[in-house]
Amino acid sequence: MNVHVKTGKLADLAAEGLVVGVYEGEQAPVGLAAEVDGAIGGVIAAVLKAGDFKGKANSTIVLHAPANQLKRVALVGLGKPGEATLETLRQAAGKGTTALRDLNVKAVTVGLLAEAQRGWKAGGEAYDARQAAQAVAEGSLLSLFQMNDYRTRDRDELKSVDQVTFWAADGEDALKAGVEAAQVITDAITLARELIVHPSNFATATHMAEVAVKAGKAAGFDVTVFEKADLERMKMGGILAVNQGSVEPPKFIVMEYHGGAKGEAPIAIVGKGITFDTGGISIKPGEGMDKMKYDMAGGAAAIAIMIAAARLGVKKNLVGLVPATDNMPSGSAFKPGDIFTSYNGMTVEVLNTDAEGRMVLCDAIAYAIKDKKAAAVIDMATLTGACVIALGTEAVGVLGNNQGLVDQLLKSGDKTGDRGWQMPLWKEYNELLRSDIADMKNIGGREAGTITAACFLQRFAGDTPWCHLDIAGTAWTEKEKPYRPKGPTGVPVRMVLDTIQNWPL
Ligand code: BES
Ligand code: MN
Ligand code: ZN
Repeated sequence: MNVHVKTGKLADLAAEGLVVGVYEGEQAPVGLAAEVDGAIGGVIAAVLKAGDFKGKANSTIVLHAPANQLKRVALVGLGKPGEATLETLRQAAGKGTTALRDLNVKAVTVGLLAEAQRGWKAGGEAYDARQAAQAVAEGSLLSLFQMNDYRTRDRDELKSVDQVTFWAADGEDALKAGVEAAQVITDAITLARELIVHPSNFATATHMAEVAVKAGKAAGFDVTVFEKADLERMKMGGILAVNQGSVEPPKFIVMEYHGGAKGEAPIAIVGKGITFDTGGISIKPGEGMDKMKYDMAGGAAAIAIMIAAARLGVKKNLVGLVPATDNMPSGSAFKPGDIFTSYNGMTVEVLNTDAEGRMVLCDAIAYAIKDKKAAAVIDMATLTGACVIALGTEAVGVLGNNQGLVDQLLKSGDKTGDRGWQMPLWKEYNELLRSDIADMKNIGGREAGTITAACFLQRFAGDTPWCHLDIAGTAWTEKEKPYRPKGPTGVPVRMVLDTIQNWPL
């Protein structure tokens, strides 16, 4: 994808397709829409006057101006100006960009920046020009994600954009800075989305480790991969138990980025890397099981966050950890009733082999604290079906032992559009994990599944500030959203990155 930034007079702009914003309630074209209208002979005014386009959020209409150097204009609705936020810009940019992509426009130009200012003057969210540019570029670039690697026939029917140009009349520095940041972030998210959408026969733990090593070399962070023999020597009982039924070797991926002061304790970013979750001996029903290829979305997010943080030159020390394996049933698989000893020595009675995510995460969290002396731990995991039931596909489940960290993540979520919602970690829930024979069970029962899963992890975080993000409902979408095509979303990369950038809390 070629990305360009352009400033200057509209009269000097040539475009195959230009995205222009219109707020709800604007009866006649305003701002850029008025200028464009002048250039293309009054079509926008006519469309608004006829009521054919009302500016409702994320509605689109594509107008043609065949004789003009602006060949097509995609109007995109921004909703009510007083309600405008950065997310309005992201969504509108995504909608406008894909409306043109669907018409097979190869070069898209996005001109939404003047509208940002109109929105906040009308009482919408206030932000600066750089943030607005970043939001527009994020929405546009993220909307174009596709996975066509496995299509071998009729490839000429696939529609894709080759070039996106972000245009504004002025403010070149802010536009450039915003678009550059967006490119780094969306490239990283695209890598995560690709890892997630690739099936488990391609995206194995070994493949994930290779991707991390390559990314570390390119972006500038160190990667160590612990092999099965290393995990045995280190006594990482959780990862090893989950891997027991598999023919694919496990990998524990350790990524280290030194952007902060020497000796400063790192922030640990842990991601669940279950490359496929059959449930193991407590096997899942067949229907929809294919979706469990996205059970490594947390791990993919951890790799993406490391890449983006390193390329943005974030001034913090970070450790990214991905315990990666599939969860398979076989003659050698771990079984209900088995007891394993985790990396920090605590024993766990397995009452359901489908509660495997917490078993790999507990070793990684313990490693972050014991070996890496992490100042704080943020873990990301497609951990519970219960979270999908509780929050659906709109909110990440947020649970933690440090309210400051929780609050910052929620705030970053609102700002970035990777929204989260907090759930409680009261001690009454924690008691549901009591085992008759070991230090704890790996499940808490039918009720409050997202909370008891987090309670399990909390025991391994101890006093270290820690927050858990349950992304079971948000890492994948079956319903296309403005800048999240059907499939892997890349949530919560932008949420966590924003929190890292706002550290210390
Ligand atoms: N990977 C699943 C959770 C999941 C479900 C993610 C749906 C995405 C969509 C996880 O490993 C799991 O199986 N959790 C169990 C826990 C239960 C056995 C306590 C669940 O949610 O049913
Ligand atoms: Mn499971
Ligand atoms: Zn799982």
